[in-house]
Amino acid sequence: MDVKELYKRKLISLEEAVRLVQSNQKICTAMAASEPAGLLTALAGRKDELENVTIVSCLIMRDYEIFKPEMTGRFLNETWFYGPGDRANHVHGNVTYIPNNLHEAGKKKLANDKINIFWGTATPMDKRGYFSLSLGLTYEKLMIEQADLVVLEINENLPWTLGDTQVHISEIDHVVENTIPLVQLPPVEPGEEELVIGQYIAEMIEDGATLQLGIGGIPNAIAQSLMDKRDLGVHTEMFTDGMVDLFNAGVITGRRKTIWKGKMVGTFALGTQKLYDFIDTNLAVEFQQGYVVNDPCVVGQNHKMVSINTALQVDLTGQVCSEAIGNRHYSGTGGQADTHRGAQRSPGGKGIIALRSTAKAGKISTIVAQLPAGAKVTLGRNDIDYIVTEYGVAHLKGRSVRDRVQAMINIAHPDFRAELREEANRLQIW
Ligand code: COA
Repeated sequence: MDVKELYKRKLISLEEAVRLVQSNQKICTAMAASEPAGLLTALAGRKDELENVTIVSCLIMRDYEIFKPEMTGRFLNETWFYGPGDRANHVHGNVTYIPNNLHEAGKKKLANDKINIFWGTATPMDKRGYFSLSLGLTYEKLMIEQADLVVLEINENLPWTLGDTQVHISEIDHVVENTIPLVQLPPVEPGEEELVIGQYIAEMIEDGATLQLGIGGIPNAIAQSLMDKRDLGVHTEMFTDGMVDLFNAGVITGRRKTIWKGKMVGTFALGTQKLYDFIDTNLAVEFQQGYVVNDPCVVGQNHKMVSINTALQVDLTGQVCSEAIGNRHYSGTGGQADTHRGAQRSPGGKGIIALRSTAKAGKISTIVAQLPAGAKVTLGRNDIDYIVTEYGVAHLKGRSVRDRVQAMINIAHPDFRAELREEANRLQIW
């Protein structure tokens, strides 16, 4: 097979490719930093011809015209994880959330829905006809196998990542060349509370442990508290900048890992150019599909597996809400339940939810007697292991409601403890 010839035959312009989209179709797009910005931008040019086109996405990072209020009825974003634009657009009714545990997201979608087009991004092709799917491998490859039509936007700026990321030109219907700057998510500088939380968590992590660090400010801050550790490993949903620092400092070696020894394993990457340069053709970095990496049974095969995620609110019995603020949908479950549960299957493993004890400049407590109406339980209390705030560690696993209430009040901000006790008594949470 002359792969260069095949490439030439499959290469079309963005304009031609976008013309392939028809009304009433579902188009699944690659996630986050690998989202196909060409498609999502150019579809606006067809707004007068198309209706009822559904984009099935995950964590859209840029702002697109097709999701503006005037496009309602023409384009709908069905998403596994809200990005910043989705939060704003939700009120117009053109964004809807797909409840999911990340390791099952792609498979469940395909089991009960038809995906007409998969539209992703990839590196330029190599001499053997392979592309690397680069920054996202959560559900993308499953969709390539199942969609009626597959289009890849080729971006020269995408890093060539290793593992299960390769797809061959023969599996693709069309390629479109679209080299644009990559989306970057700079880490948030940790404040005082985050650094204290980082210290508590550092004390819970033994040398030789394998880590999952979730999305958000706190997991990133924790990376800074681990500089004194030795031989840590990574088995994570998302690769982050903090992991690069730990690797470069010699803290992450993966030498004591039980699966994928010596490799940092993950399913997508989102960070700055520093991270994207680091993962480019790096033999120490292994991308595997979301249904593999995040499967709790796989997570649990790592010894001393520690999963660290964050939340918006936790109630006194240990119900964790990480994806909504009351009825306002904020993000998604992602792999939070996958990795929290998986870590507890691991010999010596720990599931940790870390959050600041207050939000909105100390005005509200994130530890609440009961979750507000409309809140979503991201992680049920039956599955919870540890909760950490800047006031300490509450180990809830196996404990009664009575013990949990006391442990949670102990890690709440002192200004709210009396109020929480009164509420617990009034509601008979005991
Ligand atoms: N009540 C009201 N508002 C609250 C709040 C509360 N209890 N807690 C936080 N907020 C507000 C913050 O003030 C902030 O508002 P702003 O954007 O106006 O400043 C916003 O909510 C986000 O809070 P922040 O603490 O900055 O969030 P983050 O970026 O660190 O992300 C999660 C935290 C929980 C949203 C994020 O980790 C998440 O979506 N988790 C679920 C998925 C997951 O864990 N996946 C795991 C593997 S990647």
